[in-house]
Amino acid sequence: MIDIRSDTVTLPTNEMLSYVANCQFGDDVFSEDPTVNELQNYTADLLGKEAALFVSSGTMGNQLSLAINAEAGDEILVEEQAHIFYYETGAPAMLSRAQLRCIHSEYGVMQLDDIKKAIRTDEYWFPKTKIICIENTHNRHGGKIIPIDNIKEIANFAHSHDILMHCDGARLWHACVETGISPKDYCEPFDTISVCLSKGIGAPVGSLIAGSKKDIERARRWRKMVGGGMRQAGIVAGAALFALKNNYQLLADTHKNAKVFANILHKCEYISLDMNRVETNMVYFSIPEKISSEHFLSELYKRNVRVIPVGVNSFRAVFHYQVSDEDTLFAGNTIVELINELNK
Ligand SMILES: Cc1ncc(COP(=O)(O)O)c(C=O)c1O
Repeated sequence: MIDIRSDTVTLPTNEMLSYVANCQFGDDVFSEDPTVNELQNYTADLLGKEAALFVSSGTMGNQLSLAINAEAGDEILVEEQAHIFYYETGAPAMLSRAQLRCIHSEYGVMQLDDIKKAIRTDEYWFPKTKIICIENTHNRHGGKIIPIDNIKEIANFAHSHDILMHCDGARLWHACVETGISPKDYCEPFDTISVCLSKGIGAPVGSLIAGSKKDIERARRWRKMVGGGMRQAGIVAGAALFALKNNYQLLADTHKNAKVFANILHKCEYISLDMNRVETNMVYFSIPEKISSEHFLSELYKRNVRVIPVGVNSFRAVFHYQVSDEDTLFAGNTIVELINELNK
């Protein structure tokens, strides 16, 4: 089965498991797991921040990053298709007790003018604008890379207005690999960053929050509060460390495969796809309305390919390092053949 529903479906390799077998473990609630500590220090260094904290998921990373700084009644700005808004179960209402305000954008890149219009003035009846979130790369905008100049422009404005910046960097690595901009440079404008290791990087579990020592200490407290304090967490942190050190450089190939796949689909007259939007490891495409999505997916499954639905007759394919060049060609050609058949 060629599973390109997500880059979260990668499986641990034997090398990864052997690496874990040789790691040292301890109780991470006492901060005594050497492997967790190594992963945290390594990531903090990589992102150019004072400290980092291992958490169980990207959702926990984002939500704790918001909760440590937002207060009840605050407002947090997000792009309107952001994961934080779309897929995190409305968690800010529960954890930060803050409201999200969505900013419209073309292709996921919020414009400073739109942000300026959304910033609250000081009247006491308004919520206080507390945090601006930027998702890089942007999932629902097809793996869009957010340009660093756009981020710096927004961050300069935000910081001069006492507003914090958070990066949902679940796939920050892809932006770095594609642009050549270092993780440090991409993270510099942010107060807090959440990065995922269980996506393209290929770890089975785990994300990290990075920021100032003070923020990370608060996040540690919050992590415990939501039941995320784990004991010998080095078992998973070790796999994550292995993945981060070894798989980072494999991401460029996933971008190449996404383009190869997109090119195949693009040549089919019944498939809509914007080639300009294929920047990293994701491809979004649509099929004719007369074909039922369920039928397309079940027929595709029978032919050993899986993609994920993201809207009416729209789908997403995500490339990861466990999809080979041959798999990529097979998946693309199979989809085109199937659509040609179903459209008759
Ligand atoms: C951009 C983005 N942020 C955060 C997350 C949340 O990660 P998790 O599924 O580990 O909670 C995802 C998951 O796909 C994502 O795509």
